[in-house]
Amino acid sequence: MAKHIIGTVNEIPTGKRKIVDVGGRSIGVFNVNGEFYALRNSCPHQGGPLCRGQLAGTMLPSRPGEYRWGRDGEILRCPWHGWEFDVTTGKSFFNPHRLRVRSYQVTVESEASIEEADASVESYRVTVEDRYVVLHL
Ligand code: FES
Repeated sequence: MAKHIIGTVNEIPTGKRKIVDVGGRSIGVFNVNGEFYALRNSCPHQGGPLCRGQLAGTMLPSRPGEYRWGRDGEILRCPWHGWEFDVTTGKSFFNPHRLRVRSYQVTVESEASIEEADASVESYRVTVEDRYVVLHL
């Protein structure tokens, strides 16, 4: 599995995303409450640019007459027709067992551990204190 440096942790703050082209694929890397996730930027419905969609939350299970909102920033809504996906798993929100978007492993690594990463995608000026967001394909 090849490693690709996407950027530094500071470049993708909580609630933000970065869309990159790696290995001929467009991939969105999201920072959700300090955890990083990566999804293919192609909606399984009709190929829309899913990772450019709005991030939101959703209604949570609750008792009758009670309304609870949660998971803010974890649900990604496709900009074309509004299908929703869980950013943390890639599973669709309405049919999680049968429909999902491809997800990829993302790690945060220090300079010492990424010597074998492919830095040819983009180059960054970094300092020793920087930690890198690394995509595994
Ligand atoms: S292309 Fe994404 S919902 Fe239709």
